[in-house]
Amino acid sequence: MEELSGKVAVVTGAASGIGLAMVEAFVAEGMGVVMADIEADALEQAAAGLPDGAEALTVVCDVADAPQVDGLRDAAIERFGGAHVVCNNAGVSAGGPIWLASDDEWDWVLGVNLRGVISGVRAFAPLFIEQGEGHIVNTASMAGLVSAPLMGVYNVSKHGVVTLSETLAAELQMVGAEGVGVSVLCPGWVRTRIHEAGRNRPPSDEPTGVETMDEGMREFIAGVIAGGLDPSDVAAMVVHAIKTRSFYVLTHPDWAHFVSERTDRIVAGENPVVAALPSGPGDDDAPALDAGA
Ligand SMILES: NC(=O)c1ccc[n+]([C@@H]2O[C@H](COP(=O)([O-])OP(=O)(O)OC[C@H]3O[C@@H](n4cnc5c(N)ncnc54)[C@H](O)[C@@H]3O)[C@@H](O)[C@H]2O)c1
Repeated sequence: MEELSGKVAVVTGAASGIGLAMVEAFVAEGMGVVMADIEADALEQAAAGLPDGAEALTVVCDVADAPQVDGLRDAAIERFGGAHVVCNNAGVSAGGPIWLASDDEWDWVLGVNLRGVISGVRAFAPLFIEQGEGHIVNTASMAGLVSAPLMGVYNVSKHGVVTLSETLAAELQMVGAEGVGVSVLCPGWVRTRIHEAGRNRPPSDEPTGVETMDEGMREFIAGVIAGGLDPSDVAAMVVHAIKTRSFYVLTHPDWAHFVSERTDRIVAGENPVVAALPSGPGDDDAPALDAGA
C-alpha cells in the first residue's frame, strides 16, 4: 500500500510504547487512526497528545475478549467508513522459569498476545479481502523466532503470532487476495513499559512469573528495556514495511544470527543451546537463575 494518506489505521495497545509510536507515524502520513487500549485514562492522554487536526477515535478494548475486537472493527467502520491497516500490537510480558508459571499467567499472556492477534485477524481479514485492499501488522518479537530462557510463556505466545502470520500470508496468496498484505513485527529490546505489563493483569491470587524472579533479575530486565530502541524508530520500520509489502520486520538486524543458528541446529539435528538474547536473561552478565522449587 504505497499511499497511506487519507486511509485509516487501527492500532491496539495504542496508549503506550510501540503502539502509540505507530499511531503518531500514521498521523504524520495523513491517516485517520483508531486507537484501542485496555487502559482508558492512558488512552485519552495519548490521544490528547496527538498533533492538532489529527483524525483519531479512541476505543477502550480488551483484545483478549473477541467480541470487543469485533466491536473495534465496527467502531472504525462507523466513524471512518472502513479501515485499511490494522496493527494487532497489544501485548504483555511474563518472565520466570516456565515450571513456575501459573494457569492464570498462561491464560493472561496467551489471551492478550495470541488470542488478541487471532481475534484481530478474524475481525479485519474478511473486510480487507472484500474491499481488495488492506495490510495486517502483527506484533510478535524476537522471542517469536528463538527460545530465550526465563521468557517461556511469552515465547510460546510470540512463536504463535509468527506462525499465524506466516500461515495467513500464504492463505491470502492462495485465495488470490493480492491487495492484502501482512507483516510480522519482531522487535528486540524497545524502550517502552512492557516490563511493567503487570499493571493490566486481571486480579489473581497467583504471583506473576516476574514476581517469582529475584529483584536483581527484575532490575536487569528494566535496564535492558531502558537501553532499547526508541519506539519511533520501530514505527518508521512498520510504515516502510506497509509501503513496500515487507513481511518480516526485524528491528535489530545484528540479532538475526540467533535465528539462523537455531534453524541450522534444527536442520543438523543438534540439541538446542541457551539462546540468550544480547543483554537479556541467560546472558553471561545476567543474574543467575534460581530454581525456585
Ligand atoms: N518493548 C520491547 O522490548 C518489545 C520487544 C518485542 C516485542 N514487543 C511487543 O510490542 C508490543 C507493544 O508493547 P510495548 O513494548 O509498546 O509495551 P507497552 O506496555 O508500553 O504497551 C503495551 C500496550 O498494550 C496495552 N494492553 C495490555 N493489555 C491489553 C489488552 N488486554 N487489551 C488491549 N490493550 C492492552 C497496554 O495498556 C499498553 O498500552 C507487545 O506486543 C510486546 O510484546 C515489545
